[in-house]
Amino acid sequence: MVDKDEAAWKVLQDDLDNRRPFRNFEYCRKDKDGEIRYKRVTGKPFFDRGGVFLGYRGYTTDITESRRTEHEFTQRNKMESLGSLAGGIAHNLNNTLQPIMILSQMTRDAFPADSDEHQNLQLINQACARAKELVERILAFSRESSYQLRKVDIYEIVREELELILSIVPTNITIRSRLSKKTGIVDVDPIQTQTVLMNIVANAIDAFEGKPGRIRISLSRARVGSSSETAIATLKKGDYAKLTVADNGPGMDEKTLRRIFDPFFTTKQPGKGTGLGLSTAIGIVYKHGGTIRAISAPGEGATFEVFLPLVQGKDS
Ligand SMILES: Nc1ncnc2c1ncn2[C@@H]1O[C@H](COP(=O)(O)OP(=O)(O)OP(=O)(O)O)[C@@H](O)[C@H]1O
Ligand SMILES: [Mg+2]
Repeated sequence: MVDKDEAAWKVLQDDLDNRRPFRNFEYCRKDKDGEIRYKRVTGKPFFDRGGVFLGYRGYTTDITESRRTEHEFTQRNKMESLGSLAGGIAHNLNNTLQPIMILSQMTRDAFPADSDEHQNLQLINQACARAKELVERILAFSRESSYQLRKVDIYEIVREELELILSIVPTNITIRSRLSKKTGIVDVDPIQTQTVLMNIVANAIDAFEGKPGRIRISLSRARVGSSSETAIATLKKGDYAKLTVADNGPGMDEKTLRRIFDPFFTTKQPGKGTGLGLSTAIGIVYKHGGTIRAISAPGEGATFEVFLPLVQGKDS
């Protein structure tokens, strides 16, 4: 059992102890492959003729897919409106910052280096540079940033970024990877695609907070179809590259999970995170016709699945 909603479990326990029926109780647990599944269960007590309690009868439904789908639709709508709003603001702010940046620099240089004026203008200039950096990051998740599509082998893109990740990963963390060379060709901006992987892995590293941990990175081909088994509501039918990053860190509760892709949502200390890593990642993946799915539970780690459409006709 991985759900930690203790109040709900208490109510259920009370129903069971008092042999009452219960309806639509939702919980999550890991299946034998270690994947988190959401279940909904309804049960009724049954008794023999003499009124002796014999047990519960009921049925359990797996609601993992519908949960994901619900999230994905609201997420996409949210990103579209927030993306254009933030993009518009960031664009205007960029234009406003430009003269502050240039003029503060010019005026600073007109004063001797050890004067108060020089130092004050230096501070203004530095603050302006930080504001510009933030604006750049906002532009990256909004639709305003430009990107250059190229038909590339997704295996090469991931392998290259993985090398970089392996060179910077702290020693408390073990990374295991399984990348299929035959995943296929994608039409993407390679640098932005690598940013997606880096942002997701960076979060996993942060989540361990220096404690030992494992991250599993895998790449394979996945078919998205129309049956309930293979459908992903926000994706067109077809073949996709599926990049999975799974960690065995502390995981997230349902409330956090619902907000992780929101721009500026962070659970980190002020100054530690801006909350733009995942919103940037999902913004990039949406622009490429894909999606990111996240699943997690407290104490059970987190799994992120990135789907990117494969170019048709290039099968290997
Ligand atoms: N692997 C993970 N395990 C646990 N929590 C996670 C994981 N990945 C993301 N989160 C949660 O999602 C939040 C949002 O992540 P996001 O990358 O968008 O922002 P951030 O990491 O807080 O800041 P930034 O990426 O801008 O430095 C995190 O603050 C954290 O609470
Ligand atoms: Mg992050």
